[in-house]
Amino acid sequence: MLLWQKMMIGLARSESMTRRMQDSRFMSRFARRFVGGRDRDEGLERARALHGSGLSASLFYLGEYVADPDEIRATREALSGAARGLGRDGLDVHLSVDPTQLGSMISWETCHENVVALAGDVADNGRGGRDVLMLDMEDSSVTGPTLDLYHSLRGQGLPMAVTVQAYLHRTPEDLARLVENGAMVRLVKGAFAESGKVAVTGRRDRDEAYRKAVVTLLSPEARERGVYPVFGTHDHRMVAFAEHVAAANGWRRDQWEVEMLLGVRPAYQRELADRGVSVRLYLPFGRDWWPYSIRRVGENPKNLGFVFRSMVEKAE
Ligand code: FDA
Repeated sequence: MLLWQKMMIGLARSESMTRRMQDSRFMSRFARRFVGGRDRDEGLERARALHGSGLSASLFYLGEYVADPDEIRATREALSGAARGLGRDGLDVHLSVDPTQLGSMISWETCHENVVALAGDVADNGRGGRDVLMLDMEDSSVTGPTLDLYHSLRGQGLPMAVTVQAYLHRTPEDLARLVENGAMVRLVKGAFAESGKVAVTGRRDRDEAYRKAVVTLLSPEARERGVYPVFGTHDHRMVAFAEHVAAANGWRRDQWEVEMLLGVRPAYQRELADRGVSVRLYLPFGRDWWPYSIRRVGENPKNLGFVFRSMVEKAE
């Protein structure tokens, strides 16, 4: 791992730094780039602004690996409130959530209960179609239970979607079942440090696995079954490949989308939207904005300039 990335992860994990930054008024520009807002209302306001500029959003409440029942309740309430607000404003009721935010570290039954309640909020406030509760995918120890949760709730008719990581060896099999199901699937490369036993590890192999999964999700069969592919990537080569396969297999522009993180490659997001690609942004909100934002910075050293500019601007 790069020294730069290690430094940023260190900053993300430092409790004193997190406290200092989150309480500071000086870092709001920094927070605004990668985070929709410090609370639900700010998150909703940002979703409305994005909608006004032709971009959709998926709201995510910041925090992960939560074992405290009060924090789990707070996450559920924040997301329920977001579902109501999005519905009221006529925006997509599209939420993203990690199973560990909703109780999977306590038990999968607890998580199941919370996910059912939240998916119910999406159903009550949405208008169908693209209004879903999207399950993020965490490390490979929970891939099976997360997919089981998705299939069980979707079987009950709840508005669910799921993220699949291209790098896992099991993914072609998981995708075959999801295609059969006519699922909404967000395809990502995969972000966790997995061993070669469960995942491909080199960059080239990871990209190749991603392309193979694109072909599966954009096959004529997938289109007939009503699959809605979401390409969760900032990699223009992957997006160009998806555009090419989609056109070759007769997919309309409104039958698939690209999803990127708020603040990452914003010019490219704009460029895609301007030429008619459906673009959604993963829009985190909540008080825990510091560890999330500094990790995004760590992913690209070019962001160092942005960090300095934020600090200078705020100090003026
Ligand atoms: P890659 O890392 O190759 O980046 C492509 C290009 O994008 C780079 O060359 C760089 O120019 C640019 N770029 C990337 N990050 C940048 C940054 N921070 N700042 C500036 N430029 C940057 N993973 C997972 O395991 N489970 C999940 O549930 C999700 N969910 C998810 C949702 C969404 C909407 C996205 C976009 C991603 C995820 N991921 C994820 C993360 C995913 O697995 C992957 O780790 C990252 O997206 C990075 O891979 P890329 O495909 O973007 O390509």
